[in-house]
Amino acid sequence: MTSGVRTSLAELAAASAAARVLEQHGLDYWCQGGRPLEEAAREKGLDPGAVLQEISEAQAASADERDWREAPLSQLIEHIRKTHHEYLKRNLPALSQRLAEVVEVHRARDAARLEGMSEVFAGLRAELEGHMQKEEVILFPVIARYEQAASQGLPVPPVAFGTIANPIRVMEREHSSAAEALKRLRELAGGYCLPDWACETTQALWRSLEELERDLHLHIHLENNILFPRATDLEGRTCGPFRG
Ligand SMILES: [Fe+2]
Ligand SMILES: [Fe+2]
Repeated sequence: MTSGVRTSLAELAAASAAARVLEQHGLDYWCQGGRPLEEAAREKGLDPGAVLQEISEAQAASADERDWREAPLSQLIEHIRKTHHEYLKRNLPALSQRLAEVVEVHRARDAARLEGMSEVFAGLRAELEGHMQKEEVILFPVIARYEQAASQGLPVPPVAFGTIANPIRVMEREHSSAAEALKRLRELAGGYCLPDWACETTQALWRSLEELERDLHLHIHLENNILFPRATDLEGRTCGPFRG
């Protein structure tokens, strides 16, 4: 596919090298992926042509990346679980611990900011843990069953929630809420510029929160812009006359 400035952020981000460039410029490809690059870049005072150029250079430097728009959905689900869900399960408890340490030691320096971060992070963590559970137990197995049925030329099996659009809508709402929490954390952390009182633990906390933000943006993008539309399409293509 030839990309241009009218290409949507989600299409561009299908290559993860491109997603990294969009992330560096703060261009929201995860929840606002339908917007054309031109519009989103101009809004941020960026030259869309220059961003596109950067994207093509980044892609040329990493030509071996997987295109998840073409891979079997079961493999995409496995990738999301192994890469992004495992990352969260491993890092959320450690981040809570590190944040609690920083709050305890430095509260007197900036109580409003640190307590605000603590509150926002606790809400984000609780939401994400419930969210992943719902994806792993309910939604992903249904998508895998849909794909298996489609590969055998069978109609998609009926699901308790009527159509897959229902749980997907809930997941997308939760993604928007998580993205808002990340934005709030970034604001509270001063754009992740280190405060002058930052000790080593604070530096590590700032770095790991920024890494969490990057990882979660990519994770949300893979679900919102690739997995969910492809699963919806599968349901649309294989139900029709077969479903009672
Ligand atoms: Fe997920
Ligand atoms: Fe999700």
